[in-house]
Amino acid sequence: MTVPVCARATARAASRSVVCQAIRPATRTASLSNKVLNQSRAISSYGYTQSKALVYSKYGEPQDVLSLHGHSISPVAGTSVVVRMLVAPINPADVNQIQGVYPSKPELTTSLGTSEPSAVGGNEGVGEVISIGSGVKSLSKGDWVIMKHTSQGTWRTHLEIDESKLLKIDNKDGLTPLQVGTVSVNPCTAYRMLLDSAKWDFRGGEWFIQNGANSGVGRAAIQLGKEWGFKSINVIRGREDKEAEQELKQELLDLGATQVVTEEELQGRGMKDQIKEWTNGGREQVKVGLNCVGGKPATALAKFLSPGASMVTYGAMSKQPVMLPASLLIFKEISFSGFWVSKWSDRYPDQKKQTVEDVLRLTREGKFKDIPVQECKWGWKTGLETLQAAVQGTLGGFRAGKGVFVFEET
Ligand SMILES: NC(=O)c1ccc[n+]([C@@H]2O[C@H](COP(=O)([O-])OP(=O)(O)OC[C@H]3O[C@@H](n4cnc5c(N)ncnc54)[C@H](OP(=O)(O)O)[C@@H]3O)[C@@H](O)[C@H]2O)c1
Repeated sequence: MTVPVCARATARAASRSVVCQAIRPATRTASLSNKVLNQSRAISSYGYTQSKALVYSKYGEPQDVLSLHGHSISPVAGTSVVVRMLVAPINPADVNQIQGVYPSKPELTTSLGTSEPSAVGGNEGVGEVISIGSGVKSLSKGDWVIMKHTSQGTWRTHLEIDESKLLKIDNKDGLTPLQVGTVSVNPCTAYRMLLDSAKWDFRGGEWFIQNGANSGVGRAAIQLGKEWGFKSINVIRGREDKEAEQELKQELLDLGATQVVTEEELQGRGMKDQIKEWTNGGREQVKVGLNCVGGKPATALAKFLSPGASMVTYGAMSKQPVMLPASLLIFKEISFSGFWVSKWSDRYPDQKKQTVEDVLRLTREGKFKDIPVQECKWGWKTGLETLQAAVQGTLGGFRAGKGVFVFEET
C-alpha cells in the first residue's frame, strides 16, 4: 500500500548618517533603491528608517529570483512598530516557498515600493523594537519580538508591523538573539510532535525513533526527549568519511540521544534484534516515529514502531513519497499523521507562547543547546551575492550547520 505524503499531511523576522530631505518618501514606505542601497545607514532626524530586504517577485531558485531592495519606513503611527532584525534563520521551507513549491505562499504586493509585486523571504527570526506608534499597548522600545505567524518576511534589516502580529519575549535574560531567533520553528515542531503524539507515562522506559536526527528538529527532539525521560533511536545519513560519521554520532549522543545509527545500519539485517535488545526484549515500547525524509527511510523507520504507536511525518527531504506496508495499519494499528507548525501556530497562539517560553526556559537552564549554524553577517554594505549564496546552499545536504542571517548594526 502506498500512502503519499500529501494524502497523509494533516494540518498541523556604519556609520550613522543621514537621510537627506531629498529622499523623504511620498508614501508610507517608498522605494529608494539606488540611494538607500548606496548610503551607509540611517535613521533620520525626521524618524525615517532605512531598510533593506531580500525580496522576490516570481518563484524560482533563490539565486535567480532574490533581489536586495532598499526602502524607507515612515515614522510609525497607531498600533504599528518598527523592528530591527537581529537574527533570521534560513530554513528549508523558506527555500521551498521561494521555489513556489510550498503550500503557504506570501502575498506579493508593492507595499515596499518595489516595481513588481513582491514578497520578503524568510519566516522566522527575532528583532528588537526600535520605535512604537502612539497607540501601541503591548510593546516598548527595546523589547525582543518574534513573529506570531509565518510568511511575515524576516529577511530584512527593519520592518514596520502591527503589534498584534508579534509575540513579545517576556524574559530575554541570559538568552542570545540566535537562541530566540531559532525557537519558533524547529524546537516548537519537535516539542509538539513528541508530546502530543502519544500517551506517555514519563517513567523512563519509553522510546521514540526518528530520521533526519541531525536536523534542527531532530536535535531539538533529542534534547526534549531526554528532558522528558524518553529514550531515542536516532537515524542519520551515513558519511563517506567514517571519522566524520562517528563525530556526528557522538555529537548527538552528547546531546542526549540514546542510540544513533545510520540509514544503512537501520535497514541492515541485525537491527531487529538490536532494537529488541535495547528495548528490554521489546517490553519498552517505541511509541512515536518522527519522519522528515520519506521514501525507504520512512518505511524502514515505521517497521520498528511498537503496536499502537504513532508515526508523524513533518518533512520530505528525500522528495520521495511515504510507502507503508498495509500490515502496519491493519495488524499493528499504527497511526500515521502529519504536523505543520504554521497551522499549529495559527490555531493555537496561546500554546505557541507557552511552548516558546518553555523551550527558552530550558535554554536558559542550559538544557537546550544551540544548533550548529553557518552565520551570514548582514551589515548595511553586505551585497546581494553574499545573501543569495547563504540561501542557495540550504537544501544541499551534508551541511555543517543551518544558515542564519546575523544582522550587524544596520
Ligand atoms: N512540518 C513542519 O512544521 C516543519 C517544521 C520544521 C521543519 N520541517 C521540515 O523538517 C525538515 C528538517 O528541517 P530542519 O530545519 O530541521 O533542517 P536542517 O536543520 O536544515 O537539516 C536538514 C536535514 O535534512 C537532511 N537532508 C538533507 N537532504 C536530504 C536528502 N536528500 N535526503 C535525506 N535527508 C536529507 C539533512 O541530513 P544530512 O546532514 O545527512 O544532509 C539534515 O538532517 C525539512 O524537511 C523541513 O521542511 C517541517
